[in-house]
Amino acid sequence: MFNKKVLKFPNGFLWGTGASAHQVEGGNFNNWSEWEKRNAEKLAKKAKTYWQPWQIKQFPEMLQSKNYISGRACDHYHRFKEDFDIAKSLGHNAHRFSIEWSRIEPKEGKINQGEIEHYRQVLIALRDRGLEPFVTLYHWPLPIWLSQKGGWLNPKAPYYFDRYVKIISENLFDYVNFWITINEPNQFTLNSYLRGIWPPQKKNVFKYFEILNNLAEAHQLAYKSLHLIDLKCEVGIAKNQTFFEGNFMKYPVSYIHNKYFLNKIKNQQDFIGLNYYFHNRIKRFMFNHNDDKNCSDLGWEIYPEGIYYILKDLKKYNKPIYITENGLADVNDQKRIKFIKDHLYWVHKAIQDGVDVKGYLYWSLLDNFEWDKGFEPRFGLIEVNYKTLERKIRPSAYEYAKICKNNELNL
Ligand code: FCB
Repeated sequence: MFNKKVLKFPNGFLWGTGASAHQVEGGNFNNWSEWEKRNAEKLAKKAKTYWQPWQIKQFPEMLQSKNYISGRACDHYHRFKEDFDIAKSLGHNAHRFSIEWSRIEPKEGKINQGEIEHYRQVLIALRDRGLEPFVTLYHWPLPIWLSQKGGWLNPKAPYYFDRYVKIISENLFDYVNFWITINEPNQFTLNSYLRGIWPPQKKNVFKYFEILNNLAEAHQLAYKSLHLIDLKCEVGIAKNQTFFEGNFMKYPVSYIHNKYFLNKIKNQQDFIGLNYYFHNRIKRFMFNHNDDKNCSDLGWEIYPEGIYYILKDLKKYNKPIYITENGLADVNDQKRIKFIKDHLYWVHKAIQDGVDVKGYLYWSLLDNFEWDKGFEPRFGLIEVNYKTLERKIRPSAYEYAKICKNNELNL
């Protein structure tokens, strides 16, 4: 398959990892933290149906309800400097993290200045280590007060979001060039409002579209505000795209999942953040047929060339692209480096074909709390011992470091 030895990436390419507040910080109080507490037991029971016997043997914790409560997570809230030291030592020059809305505005309209200062320290720590921050403003959990008002279904939600974004930007714009307003609008809407498995677990196809429209409006307002406060900043979203194959169903599904939202905001984005994990084979009316069985620990099929087709398709928007997520749950670190290299091979090919890709952020720096799947999907370049909170760098992290430091992929 490969006929070149060394693939050079463009000068100034950004290399690093991504994370989100709720998954690593610990100590959060928002609609997700409360949902977890109510549902942990159910989630632990359901775990038996999707984990393999070898996984349960290796991690009996998977069947315990506490595994499904984020709690102190990785305690990154207190250990961010130590974690960024490791990222720097691994040759990274960028890092994506999210600001937790519920910390900034725990009560409606009441701003916690101490938490703004916390994130200022996070940004200073990144800058001190030469890591370019990508700041996500909304990575899924909501403040309790807003979830009690209907969350994103509330017609005023875009206004509330914009108000919060202005406060963040007015305080922190000096440190930030790249803002990501919303993480994966489709994915959380799909899981919350179509599949009904994430909070607030309401299945309703009309609500699904209503939420997407409200999120698009929220982005549009925030886009404008961010530019009014800082003319030169760059604003985008992190959009997860799935590569669909199979019968005619792929056209409507791909339109709704991949294009609907992006088309709505196409005049309000300076770059596209691409999150790529999924290849979806459609057979009859069934999704996710996995033929080749090359999977992550979560059973997600590994399909590197999909990123190439997705990138080629995104070229029509004529914007720079940063890969803001791409990663693997792989507890034994057996497939991770091949996964990264194979994806980068296809990213490089897209660049050669004229797609303006400017960075790659592996998901994730640390093992972390994977939403309704709890702590055991291990995505980290760094292993976290959740009992002692000790960090241990995985072998794949050192291999990825070589790519980052040399700005090239050695095949
Ligand atoms: C993405 C989410 C991210 C993480 C990865 C595995 O869909 O944006 O928070 O859960 O999946």
